[in-house]
Amino acid sequence: MSLLTETFTLNNGIKIPKVGFGTWQIPDGDTAYNAVSNALKLGYRHIDTAYVYRNEKSVGKAINESGIAREDIYLTSKLPAEVKNAGQVADYFNETLSNLDTDYLDLYLIHAPWPLNQVGTRFDQENLAVWKELEKLYKTGKIKSIGISNFDAHDVKNLLDNAEIVPAVNQIMYYAGFTQPENTKFAQDNGILVEAYSPLATDDLLNNPTMTSLAKQYTVSVPQLALRFVIQNGVLPLPKATSKTHIEANTELDFTISDADMTTLNAMQDTAPTHYHNATEK
Ligand SMILES: NC(=O)c1ccc[n+]([C@@H]2O[C@H](COP(=O)([O-])OP(=O)(O)OC[C@H]3O[C@@H](n4cnc5c(N)ncnc54)[C@H](OP(=O)(O)O)[C@@H]3O)[C@@H](O)[C@H]2O)c1
Repeated sequence: MSLLTETFTLNNGIKIPKVGFGTWQIPDGDTAYNAVSNALKLGYRHIDTAYVYRNEKSVGKAINESGIAREDIYLTSKLPAEVKNAGQVADYFNETLSNLDTDYLDLYLIHAPWPLNQVGTRFDQENLAVWKELEKLYKTGKIKSIGISNFDAHDVKNLLDNAEIVPAVNQIMYYAGFTQPENTKFAQDNGILVEAYSPLATDDLLNNPTMTSLAKQYTVSVPQLALRFVIQNGVLPLPKATSKTHIEANTELDFTISDADMTTLNAMQDTAPTHYHNATEK
């Protein structure tokens, strides 16, 4: 069985394919349509998009025209980070369903605990109220699992202490040398699957010398090493690619990094030190 169809099991019993295809910065139209179509042809069964990526229409079209049954594709989208008014949640959700031309989502995430121009500001009451709207949608069956993104331990605890449903997923920036140990551990200790966004540091880690030399030893590429590293840590990578060559290369992950090399990778300094980080990523 390919890693693309192997699954992690979420805290509500639902299975999620171990590798997702990321679509941030893939322009709507032919580029997004072709990228998602190619990903599905090459075996990906898990697609990650968001309202703010503005490509949901092309992502949905590629899924609907793929010839693959909807229930065989795991589809995630996200409520914009700016939506902190519970009264707006259902409208955004319905627009996302309409954009994607689907009846349900497999996973719906709060994109961030703060609007993107107020990174790090606490919105505890607002996040709780928005989360309760996601809980209602979950109970209708229109979303199979609900989760969060960019939440630090404080923001997760706010939901754990006050909400009914434990988030299934926290999607955070995570790559070799930048694994957010505190936020990752807090999520995992509470049964929340961590998804790794920017697992290639949006391509900033590709020339890292340690990654390059280790990849050579395994006769794989740096992206393949970086993605396999994430999976062996029990975290779900979401590689994005527009190039068909990259999309295909990122499916070839059936090798094993030794325990010793995992220890080395887990002890590494940031492999993409120029990559932007905010203070909540810890
Ligand atoms: N929740 C959030 O706030 C959040 C934030 C960021 C990202 N995400 C999610 O995580 C996904 C991935 O993160 P990301 O978009 O930052 O990027 P990424 O997956 O870390 O890196 C993508 C970059 O790496 C290149 N690349 C991919 N595979 C390659 C290969 N085999 N060889 C050489 N280059 C390769 C891509 O090139 P080409 O495109 O030219 O092929 C692209 O430039 C996003 O698309 C999105 O779904 C979520």
